[in-house]
Amino acid sequence: MAKTEATAPGKIILFGEHAVVYGRPAIAVPVTQVRATAEVEDSAIKGVRLHAPDLGREYWLSEAEENDPFAYVVRVFSVAASLGTLPDLKVTVRSTIPIAGGLGSGAAMAAAVIRALAKHLDITELGANQRVSELTYQVETLLHGTPSGIDNTVVAYEKPVFFIRQRPHNRIETFSISQPLRFLIADTGVESETKLVVGDVRRRWQKDPGKYEKIFDNCGRIVNAAKVEIEGGRIKEIGHLMIENQAYLKEMTVSSPELERLISTALGAGALGAKLSGAGRGGNMIALVTDLQEEKVRSALLSAGAQRVLSSVLTNVLT
Ligand code: MEV
Repeated sequence: MAKTEATAPGKIILFGEHAVVYGRPAIAVPVTQVRATAEVEDSAIKGVRLHAPDLGREYWLSEAEENDPFAYVVRVFSVAASLGTLPDLKVTVRSTIPIAGGLGSGAAMAAAVIRALAKHLDITELGANQRVSELTYQVETLLHGTPSGIDNTVVAYEKPVFFIRQRPHNRIETFSISQPLRFLIADTGVESETKLVVGDVRRRWQKDPGKYEKIFDNCGRIVNAAKVEIEGGRIKEIGHLMIENQAYLKEMTVSSPELERLISTALGAGALGAKLSGAGRGGNMIALVTDLQEEKVRSALLSAGAQRVLSSVLTNVLT
């Protein structure tokens, strides 16, 4: 039986998380070493069967809970495709992106499923990057409450993006990278739900808008400066800006003792910059390193308790 496969990458936010929800710019890049893969095949049995082997789950779409993320993606797709009833299918999703780690696992799963369904059912329009991004955003709203739109954008386009949330259309720009940037991505092992952290920051912002607006403005200034330094290839300055961004994230209360430990370990071992990435309060941190420092920083992170350390090189090839 015909089988169709599609994938989407993980992501890291280099600069500007949280402030991006409030209209400030942010920079995110895909992490192609970890991916979500969706497979769609025709089925001889009536209905749509959902299979998530990583979670040990297999169930019918018609019996899935309303807020089940996998079922929600398929329903969003079905509405967008104006398909009253989907054909009989089996949809399987696998992922090497850690869940609840700030690496975009939910967005990548949604993007891969939407792309695979669009390909399999030959609905070209829904497989275009912009539509994949829009539909993934709808799913993210269920998962995250008030997402900025940056995660769905970076996983759907699979390119580094400079992003500003605005109406009627978000501003999405790519940028050039004159020096390859090498990042280590280290997992605290502490799961963190983006929806909860984003909701908590919102409550704090509502309670003290003056303080939070100032923090967000500072994050926005750092992101704009970081774009210039990335384009100019000034690696040391990029590292300083990461450290500055982390100070504001800490002030927002989204850091954690585990993140702080890995960040100071990376800096102590010679990383040029380090910060949390994504929603924070757990999940992953990123460290900017040179080729020479990479192994030293990696082993220091592992000794300090990192559950896993990935390496990702950002070059112009991606843009
Ligand atoms: C999550 O990857 C990034 C946040 O800024 C939330 C969002 O932009 O939707 C924390």
